[in-house]
Amino acid sequence: MTHSHHDLDPQDPTAFWEDFYSPGRRPWSGRPNRVLVDELARKPLVPTTALDLGCGTGGDAIWLAAQGWTVTGVDISSAALHQAEQEAEAAGLGDHVTWQRVDLDQGLPVGTWDLVTAAYLQAPVALSRDAVLRAAADAVAPGGTMVVIGHATPPTWATDPPEHMRGMPDADEVLRTLDLSDWTVERAELVTFESTSPDGAVGTRSDSLVRVRRPS
Ligand SMILES: C[S@@+](CC[C@H](N)C(=O)[O-])C[C@H]1O[C@@H](n2cnc3c(N)ncnc32)[C@H](O)[C@@H]1O
Repeated sequence: MTHSHHDLDPQDPTAFWEDFYSPGRRPWSGRPNRVLVDELARKPLVPTTALDLGCGTGGDAIWLAAQGWTVTGVDISSAALHQAEQEAEAAGLGDHVTWQRVDLDQGLPVGTWDLVTAAYLQAPVALSRDAVLRAAADAVAPGGTMVVIGHATPPTWATDPPEHMRGMPDADEVLRTLDLSDWTVERAELVTFESTSPDGAVGTRSDSLVRVRRPS
């Protein structure tokens, strides 16, 4: 069965993301996100437990596991998690990552983690990102770290960006949403990259990067 994303009900995120990751589709490279890798290289953490929200096919979760973390990866799409699980097994890291199908709009897994990450937890379908990020902060253990990475601007070459790519929050807006009075803000900024369009136009796009630490 094939159909375009446009046939799908924007209020049914499970159907949208199952279709997005349906067998044969490999929407992501499988590599970890460079913004996360660079940030943890800039200021490393001792690897303990990590939770990756909206882990997709597991690029970040598997990379974290390879760095020594014990990782829980959650996503709404069982198709994505199936791919992630296979990749983790192939990398010999299957014992270090637990995959859970969770609709984050219905709540987070119970527990606390020393590192909570959310990379590009953004969607053209229903997703209460602000509420999820606030709940994510509650899942950070005392002394733990949260890293939130998001698209902040569409690529400069995109003359008519899709609706969900407009008005995306910058790092300060993410911080305001989180409203974390006594946490340490370790980083809150825009990171700008070169970006090439499908037909070869070169421009830039920016991501927001927020790294905060909960008091011990
Ligand atoms: C833009 S993708 C980013 C995936 C991955 N973090 C990455 O950086 O490649 C957004 C992810 O969020 C997941 N997602 C969207 N809504 C969700 C929800 N309500 N609960 C859990 N995951 C959700 C999607 O299935 C998708 O994998």
